[in-house]
Amino acid sequence: MKIVIIGSGAMGSLFAGFLAKAKEDVWLLDNNPQRAEKISEEGIKSQGVSGSWQVKVKMTTDPKEIGPADLIIIAVKSYHTKEAIKNIESIVAESTMILTLQNGLGNIEVISEVFGPERVIGGITNQGATLLKIANIKHAGTGETIIGRIDGKIPVGLRSLRETFNKAGIETRISKDIKALIWSKLIINVGINALTAITRLPNGKLLEFEGTRKIMEQAVSEAVRVAKRKRIKLIYDDPLAKVEAVCQATAANISSMLQDVQKKKHTEIDFINGVIVRQAQSLGLAAPVNTMLTNLVKTIEASYNNVVAC
Ligand code: PAF
Repeated sequence: MKIVIIGSGAMGSLFAGFLAKAKEDVWLLDNNPQRAEKISEEGIKSQGVSGSWQVKVKMTTDPKEIGPADLIIIAVKSYHTKEAIKNIESIVAESTMILTLQNGLGNIEVISEVFGPERVIGGITNQGATLLKIANIKHAGTGETIIGRIDGKIPVGLRSLRETFNKAGIETRISKDIKALIWSKLIINVGINALTAITRLPNGKLLEFEGTRKIMEQAVSEAVRVAKRKRIKLIYDDPLAKVEAVCQATAANISSMLQDVQKKKHTEIDFINGVIVRQAQSLGLAAPVNTMLTNLVKTIEASYNNVVAC
């Protein structure tokens, strides 16, 4: 399968590495020439739960160099999706599938608007990876990847994508209700990410303090109210218990949002807690805790360069 992965962060590099090791025709596309040069020279290096490995991948900043692909994986942060799918017509053919496994809500819609919903595949992944430096990742945890179409249909292409991923060692299954999965993952991120970014605590530590536990409970319950009103059927019965279980299972993890804050980067707050605030507003529901979390993370982002040392 000819696979183009857009974005060479932790997740893009992890998927590129596994698929390249399985001898798929993998290309990484990134608009940063330094990253492109480094990865072209050294390939991708990983250490962690899948052992230590290094693999060469083809890498470019110019989509025209690649030609039509069978599969495109969007692996940029959610706020870059629009930008990432601009000027990629040369790699999108009639039968090209476009997969998003990004955090948060709204990516399927953004891609569908440009390329049509029939070719878009959504999903979630429980793989955990951290970018140590360019081309160098830590494979922090492994878990299922679940993919599907928003209309629930399972065409041949989707089945062969599942086979390709499983053959490459990326444990994958198909779901007919991908919306439920994306919301179920969203609620986990709502409960964990902003809180870790604000407190600078690893996931597991959020459970050790009364304050963070209370805020987590309220943020999750506001999000669940929105999901219920939208008739989204979550995949677990007790959302707060699920968020706590994820905190325990990923206790030592530095969440993706805390990693962004540590690197003074833009975060995905608008696609996580911010989405809950906007959706609650449009449904006439209150979401004060998610509003506060969103405003605090935005303040952290806005003050990266003018924090007075005290
Ligand atoms: O965004 C993240 O970091 C992850 O989705 C999760 C589940 C919170 C684990 O760190």
